Amino acid sequence: MQVTYLGHFCFLVEVNGLKLLFDPFISGNPLAKNIDIQKIKADFIILSHGHADHCADTLEIYKNNPNATLIAMYEITEWFANQGVKNTHPMNIGGTFSFDFGSIKMVQAVHSSTLPDGKPGGSAAGFLIKTKEGDFYFAGDTALHYDMKLISLWSDTLKFAMMPIGDNFTMGYEDACIAADFVGVEKVIGAHYDSFGYIVISHEEAKNHFKNNQKELLLLNLEETINL
Ligand code: NI
Ligand code: MN
Repeated sequence: MQVTYLGHFCFLVEVNGLKLLFDPFISGNPLAKNIDIQKIKADFIILSHGHADHCADTLEIYKNNPNATLIAMYEITEWFANQGVKNTHPMNIGGTFSFDFGSIKMVQAVHSSTLPDGKPGGSAAGFLIKTKEGDFYFAGDTALHYDMKLISLWSDTLKFAMMPIGDNFTMGYEDACIAADFVGVEKVIGAHYDSFGYIVISHEEAKNHFKNNQKELLLLNLEETINL
């Protein structure tokens, strides 16, 4: 499985020959604005919630990937369907569905979810993704919450997790380290940090905190790809 970081909470995951794009927010991200979104290829666009810093580039990327399937909370897929997205797959918290790359279970996130025009986006969500190449947890914007322990019941082969670590709008790295314990994973890929003023963190302190708790925090460079 290949994971490429595109800034903020945007990741491109290649698994079983398919490209999964999570939470595209690139052109509006001061740190990622030099990435050419016209070149992004995706078979699935997966959105955790309706906030603009997670879905702002969805339509632009969809234009170049008209066969892509949009997977998100029902309110969000309807909102994008009304703007011309043809292939949508609505889900809601607690549901699992099998796709060609593997299965997605939409799980609880403790966060809000308003769409860019102020319409309600339903509940914010995270995803447990199970594939032949391993399982991972995409937390989305969330506080630390005790239901994360359920993830470890649903997958005992979790390889890694993408988690917010920037604090203020989501959990910070200390809570993310506890979250890693709850879900049963050693390797966390940090997200939702540094993009704007409220969420700037010390990389060194965050990494050391994980190390001191026998865990690993990966902070990827922009457009860096890792094999997991
Ligand atoms: Ni958010
Ligand atoms: Mn956010």
